[in-house]
Amino acid sequence: MSLIGISLILLGMMAASVTPPSFPEAVNLPAVTELPDPFLLANGDRVHTRSQWREHRKTLLSSILHYEYGELPPHTRKVTAYPKSERHLTNPDSLEQDMLIKIGEKENIQTRFFLTTPDSEGPFPVIVTGDIGWGRIKPEIVSEVVRRGFALAEFSREEIAPDSAVRGGVYAAFPDYEGGRLAAWAWGYHRLIDYLCTLPQIDKSKITVTGHSRGGKTALLAGATDERIALTAPNNSGCGGAGCYRYQEEKSEDIAIILKNLGYWFHPRFHQFIGSIDHLPFDQHTLKALVAPRALLSTEALGDLWANPKGTQQTYRAAKEVFDFLGASNKIGIHFREGGHEQGYEDWKTLLNFADYQFFNKEPTYDFQRLQFPDLPKVYSWKSP
Ligand code: GCU
Repeated sequence: MSLIGISLILLGMMAASVTPPSFPEAVNLPAVTELPDPFLLANGDRVHTRSQWREHRKTLLSSILHYEYGELPPHTRKVTAYPKSERHLTNPDSLEQDMLIKIGEKENIQTRFFLTTPDSEGPFPVIVTGDIGWGRIKPEIVSEVVRRGFALAEFSREEIAPDSAVRGGVYAAFPDYEGGRLAAWAWGYHRLIDYLCTLPQIDKSKITVTGHSRGGKTALLAGATDERIALTAPNNSGCGGAGCYRYQEEKSEDIAIILKNLGYWFHPRFHQFIGSIDHLPFDQHTLKALVAPRALLSTEALGDLWANPKGTQQTYRAAKEVFDFLGASNKIGIHFREGGHEQGYEDWKTLLNFADYQFFNKEPTYDFQRLQFPDLPKVYSWKSP
């Protein structure tokens, strides 16, 4: 090999070795005991303008994906629906279409898909849920959704990627893909939205995503990462969702427990924060803030201590600083009900009420900014600039 050839290789190696990693290891990140300031820039300055926020938001998003969930799988534009059957429902009159959705150039990712639309003039706002692996949404809830003029789209996250360490679905289609299940499932929501956006009966400006528990964590991540989503509505999503990592209640799930039992939901890098959560450069209020200025509602249950209700109020308050900054104070809401871990009729009605308020300016039936725990001190000292 010529001298020039060798020096080019050496230069290449030097360049590769001096490229700094874009994100330091947890031990090299500063310890921050309070909820980190989402307005803080890398140079120590703070965001002052909305256009600065737009830029900074991208950095926050990359950081959350890098450390916590992993990147979403590669985008594929090919999403095809294969109709199976349809039936007319009554009370109220509506149409339920049963389809198989195939995703990807090779159509090697697929999910069952049900679309229920009111029997009236569209286009309809739509609510997307990925939870049919747990059973279809109950008929009285479907009736309520349709009666209120919304379409309901149901698919199965678990077909997009199995809820286990098995590398099926997205993982079989993209063997090098390293993100966790929550990122893969969020991508599934996005692909179903690709399909919904091709339908004339769907109002593309009024797309809502919801999900329960692990489905709620997914819905929040989906809403934070796709600006086509107008309303993001995680239910009882807790740890890794609307809950807080730094502020824990006695019986709530924390990073060590969730990673021990369900580590494959996250990127393997997230493990470095077990026992050093103060080094995490964000908390879940930051993920919520990425939804702003689009609408965000988290529905919570007072008896669901595992999902950290008080910690969820903490992330709500901190995220609201960003909504305030963006002139979207009324776009963020939180609702607590009595009872335990489920997404039941009351949660769906609350979601519909919030959606009616956001999309159609209907008088809110509830004060969505009411603090359930008014005496709980804030766990951050910074303010909206
Ligand atoms: C487990 C897990 C929770 C999750 C829940 C669910 O309890 O620890 O984080 O929210 O399952 O998805 O039902």
